[in-house]
Amino acid sequence: MYYNRQDIKRILVSEEELAGICDRLAAQMTEDYKDSEHELVFVIVLKGSIFFATDLIRRIPLHCGIEFMKVSSYGKSTQSSGFIAVQLDLKRDITDADVVIIEDIIDSGRTLQKLRDLLLHRGAHSVKCCTLLDKPDRRVVDLEAEYVGEIIPDVFVVGYGLDYDEKYRTLPYVGELDPTVYQN
Ligand code: IMP
Ligand code: MG
Repeated sequence: MYYNRQDIKRILVSEEELAGICDRLAAQMTEDYKDSEHELVFVIVLKGSIFFATDLIRRIPLHCGIEFMKVSSYGKSTQSSGFIAVQLDLKRDITDADVVIIEDIIDSGRTLQKLRDLLLHRGAHSVKCCTLLDKPDRRVVDLEAEYVGEIIPDVFVVGYGLDYDEKYRTLPYVGELDPTVYQN
């Protein structure tokens, strides 16, 4: 079944802008980590950040590890429950590594705060956060990402990995979902 184009109210970040964001953040990270003595490990938070992470990491010419984690998501709701469970954990030890968590979006900030604390507790040398999108208006905890693709207003967005009820992930851009889709 095709997507209904009318479900997307407007495009917030176009394909060209997404490529520019990846170029900028990749250059910044390459500069920041090129002289590090520690192993660089990217922790990709499934599923929303998959396209962003693959586009980003391919632009970074440094030796690095790629690992995955999955934490509980919104499901059918567009509101954070405040409860975050680790559904898929790392399969390796990250002691002494420079870890960069790659997320799709920071909303309340709870997910990233919990992940950062967990990975630091496991002995990472450093843990930084990289997010494609940031909705600072919605923050309920004190959490700032070191690498931010774009700051967006408080609207529900889909595409380029982000979903609503597992739909719209594969759109090539980030768009605002028309509220009628989830308010009915
Ligand atoms: P937080 O813990 O409230 O910061 O929630 C972050 C997670 O909520 C993200 O990783 C997304 O999975 C989900 N999320 C928050 N806002 C949106 C949105 O606008 N569209 C799709 N998913 C979202
Ligand atoms: Mg997510």
